[in-house]
Amino acid sequence: MKNTFYITTPIYYPSRKFTLGNCYTTVICDAVARYNKMKGKEVFFLTGTDEHGQKISNNAKAAGKSEKEYLDEIIADAKELWKLLDIDYDKFIRTTDDYHVKAIQKIFKELYDKGYIYKGAYKGLYCVPCESFWTESQLKDGCCPDCGRPVIAQEEEAYFFKLSAFTDKLLKLYKENPEFLEPQTRVNEMVNNFLKPGLSDLCVSRTSVKWGIPVDFDPAHTVYVWIDALFNYMTALGFKSDDETLLNKFWPADVHIIGKEIVRFHAIIWPALLMALDLPLPKRIFGHGWMLFGGDKLSKSKTVDSKECVDPRILAPRYSSDSVRYILLREIPFGSDGNYSTEAFLTRFNADLVNNYGNLVSRTFSMLKKYNNSIIPELGELEQIDKNLFEMVDQEIKNVDRYMENFDVSKSLISIFNIFTSANKYIEATEPFRLAKAPDKKGRLDTILRCLLEVIRKGSLLLYPYLPNCTTTVLSAFEIDPKEAKFNDLDKFSLKAGEIVHSIPMLFPRLDIQKEMEELSKLAE
Ligand code: MSP
Repeated sequence: MKNTFYITTPIYYPSRKFTLGNCYTTVICDAVARYNKMKGKEVFFLTGTDEHGQKISNNAKAAGKSEKEYLDEIIADAKELWKLLDIDYDKFIRTTDDYHVKAIQKIFKELYDKGYIYKGAYKGLYCVPCESFWTESQLKDGCCPDCGRPVIAQEEEAYFFKLSAFTDKLLKLYKENPEFLEPQTRVNEMVNNFLKPGLSDLCVSRTSVKWGIPVDFDPAHTVYVWIDALFNYMTALGFKSDDETLLNKFWPADVHIIGKEIVRFHAIIWPALLMALDLPLPKRIFGHGWMLFGGDKLSKSKTVDSKECVDPRILAPRYSSDSVRYILLREIPFGSDGNYSTEAFLTRFNADLVNNYGNLVSRTFSMLKKYNNSIIPELGELEQIDKNLFEMVDQEIKNVDRYMENFDVSKSLISIFNIFTSANKYIEATEPFRLAKAPDKKGRLDTILRCLLEVIRKGSLLLYPYLPNCTTTVLSAFEIDPKEAKFNDLDKFSLKAGEIVHSIPMLFPRLDIQKEMEELSKLAE
């Protein structure tokens, strides 16, 4: 069986600095990638930027910069942001990369030679100062949504892709492969809104957009948006280059994780383009919901400096990258939209990270220090309450595995934190602090401490893909490197009696929520 796992984020538009919304998909992909590594798979995790189009060119001009200068600054900031959030990607593709540009030209030509691309005329509403075409629905009060000036009806020569030829093939694809597009609600949207009414051909070149990949056999045209953007998932692996080793190893992708607004492009245009070239299709596409900020998706219209938008560049250094990852992964139910609020972020921080996980670790380690000089004790005979705890842990490990098959990071975290809640309750129920006062109960005390240490080890390994920092710290107390850990390690009791548990710094400080709210709103001004 193929033991590789190829996962991708969308390539984001660097038309402005990335927001917490962009972090949402990227952090999910990072957690899923790390999880699959732990499952023993050879993982390739791709992210990147979608750099062509008039909007980028206009933004650069407005900033008094060349496109390249403008983009380089935003991409440097994006890479810093991924570092800040511990995003462990394998490759960052930029659609302005030379190898991508060359590959796209070859792909466009091949589609043309096969008769899937033909020349026609594009009719649209054009904003002259912005040099941009808009559709009726994109207009704001009948004017250009970017500059607010009037638009004119205009026509230009353009190439088209024969998307209309693929309606039946796509319906068949969805029917025969229920996993291809998830959640199921997205399939219904595609079928009812686009496939049943019948697909129209797609405009794939422009003469009015200069900032794009030139069509090499007709240089007045540049490749327009989706052929350039979607094929990144393959060109990043060397498709149409001299070296297709990675492509042969990792294509087809195991999953493209994307926001729901671009499902249409990934679930309709992308498979149609691949079918036209007789190429294997991605195995799964997952269209997640939006993280809403005061009811707004906020990804396109506002800047990171606006008050409502919380900047991950402020949050991560102040509260840790793990805490930002936690709110992103935990707060939004599987596949639906969910709200972000600063208050929810701070409340979860205290309730889950400080009072639950942090508290379990610090209580256990300090009891171990006090009652056993930080030495891992022997495991005595297990009582029913100990067995119940481990049965519960094992059940939650199975649940996490089942949820992660479907990229349900939020439910996985609920399961993992159930483990910590149960372990804290186990401390209350077994009262090790009381046993410590009775010398004849030392054996039982040792067993309880040992059980707690094993639960901390298992729970921290399980939590590592989601929160890599704090778990690495906790596991370092046992000299365990989670990067090397495998999922099967979770089956065992693997600590060794007699070994020392090193002391570690406090994981998360308790926050004064009111005070933090005030400070953050000052910073966001
Ligand atoms: N460039 C295209 C994608 C091409 S992929 C071949 C694009 N870029 S984008 O910059 O607009 O990024 C959109 C993506 O960012 C969404 O699909 C989603 O993954 C992520 N998100 C941006 N804001 C978001 C939220 N508020 N909530 C959840 N995801 C969000 O579209």
